[in-house]
Amino acid sequence: NKIAQDPDCRAVVISGAGKMFTSGVDLITACDIRYCTQDACFQVKEVDVGLAADVGTLQRLPKVIGNQSLVNELAFTARKMMADEALHSGLVSRMLPDKERMLDAAFTLATEISSKSPVAVQGTKVNLIYARDHSVAESLNYMASWNMSMLQTQDIIKSVQAAMEKKDMKSVTFSKL
Ligand SMILES: *[C@@H]1O[C@H](CO)[C@@H](O)[C@H](O)[C@H]1NC(C)=O
Ligand SMILES: *[C@@H]1O[C@H](CO)[C@@H](O)[C@H](O)[C@H]1NC(C)=O
Repeated sequence: NKIAQDPDCRAVVISGAGKMFTSGVDLITACDIRYCTQDACFQVKEVDVGLAADVGTLQRLPKVIGNQSLVNELAFTARKMMADEALHSGLVSRMLPDKERMLDAAFTLATEISSKSPVAVQGTKVNLIYARDHSVAESLNYMASWNMSMLQTQDIIKSVQAAMEKKDMKSVTFSKL
């Protein structure tokens, strides 16, 4: 909640402090981009403890990996999915050899995202999520109204100027959200 209120925050890297990233919460599917180490594994563990997963896994996982048969297999059996399969099924978009290199890659990615116009990045994210959950026609209508607020910033002009002057995006001051 604190991060959401912070106008200077543009990207957040969440990583596990110990062996587990999360245990019992579905934070993984709530993240926009997922990286893992090659020794990682993933499990929808709830059926093993007599529960149906309750905080978003069953709602988000099918949309994240787009493979209902695989989702059912994982959720009905609580079997472990190893890093390789997570990469191939799209649960993660990169697999790194170890935690240090994974965090390096994550911070490089976050720095890259942070260098862009926050209004553009946030608008992209909101519209991608909207398009995931609605029809193309509905999403285009939504985009059209979103466009109006996006065009109220100077960020488009600033981005084009920076590109023409071959300036680093990181040196441009964009509007805050
Ligand atoms: C679904 O997942 C399985 C197991 O990872 C994989 O073999 C299969 O190709 C996937 N199917 C699609 C359509 O992605
Ligand atoms: C959004 O605005 C851009 C820039 O003015 C325009 O090219 C695009 O067609 C607009 N998209 C929609 C869906 O209205």
